[in-house]
Amino acid sequence: MTTRICVVGHPAAYSRSPMLHGYWIKKHGIDGEYGREDVPPETAPDFFAHLATRYQGCNVTSPNKEIAFRAVDEADETARRLEAVNTIWFEGGRMMGGNTDAYGFLSNLDEGAPGWFKSGRPVLVLGAGGASRAIVDGLLDRGVEKLWLANRTLERAEALADLFGPRVHPIGLGDIAGPMGEAGLIVNTTSLGMKGHEALNIDLTPARVDAVVTDAVYVPLETPFLKAAKARGLATVDGLGMLLHQAVPGFERWFGVRPVVDAGLRALIVEDLRAKGQLEA
Ligand code: ATR
Repeated sequence: MTTRICVVGHPAAYSRSPMLHGYWIKKHGIDGEYGREDVPPETAPDFFAHLATRYQGCNVTSPNKEIAFRAVDEADETARRLEAVNTIWFEGGRMMGGNTDAYGFLSNLDEGAPGWFKSGRPVLVLGAGGASRAIVDGLLDRGVEKLWLANRTLERAEALADLFGPRVHPIGLGDIAGPMGEAGLIVNTTSLGMKGHEALNIDLTPARVDAVVTDAVYVPLETPFLKAAKARGLATVDGLGMLLHQAVPGFERWFGVRPVVDAGLRALIVEDLRAKGQLEA
């Protein structure tokens, strides 16, 4: 029987999940299909309630991750901490939910900047939304001892810091110069710099010469923020790998093969970005 999986989002049209899972399905000669479902949040609870009649699992993207968390029968530990689910599968008739965003972020960083963690230096995270929550969770889980969480709306950073405990220090976006001078890793989790959005205008002058700079945004692949970091000679890791790596655990659950994020996969998505004029801002 063909294993049918989809990505559930709103909009869903821009999701690259069908393309990347399709690559692995073909590569491994699997009898599988990966489609897309545009499901607005209003009808998402009903969609998830009937998911099993049409699919063996799904990925969940914005704005449905929190709804998916409430819809599953059982969420794994990470999803429970984040109260958000991005991967759904079934076990003995039970709908299971997991969250692989932090895994994707860390795997991308490990691949793009091996040894980033060895400095033992604090981390500066920009943004305090849903993406930030997953990334901060992953960084703390890895053992980061001090993390500044900088956000335009300080209260939002404070609320997130409360959830995570004393290792996370909330600050305003205007107060990052000092922390930046100490940070070994600087992460943008805001939507700024995304195609169609304004750029993230952060002065990187105070950054250490050995700092690693990464961006969760991957459209464009080279965000103005990463471009500025490169111009200063800093090591950078783009956000595309986070998308590619977060897909690995789901594919393994659905199809029973642990796929590899290889050069062919990255080239496929980069080519799609190029074709759509999304490599640069
Ligand atoms: P996501 O789930 O992608 O993280 P989100 O929850 O809407 O999306 O969070 C967006 C993040 O981008 C927030 O940190 C937001 O800051 P606020 O909490 O102050 O809104 C940040 N952001 C969006 N637009 C911004 C802007 N123009 N300037 C600074 N930060 C911005």
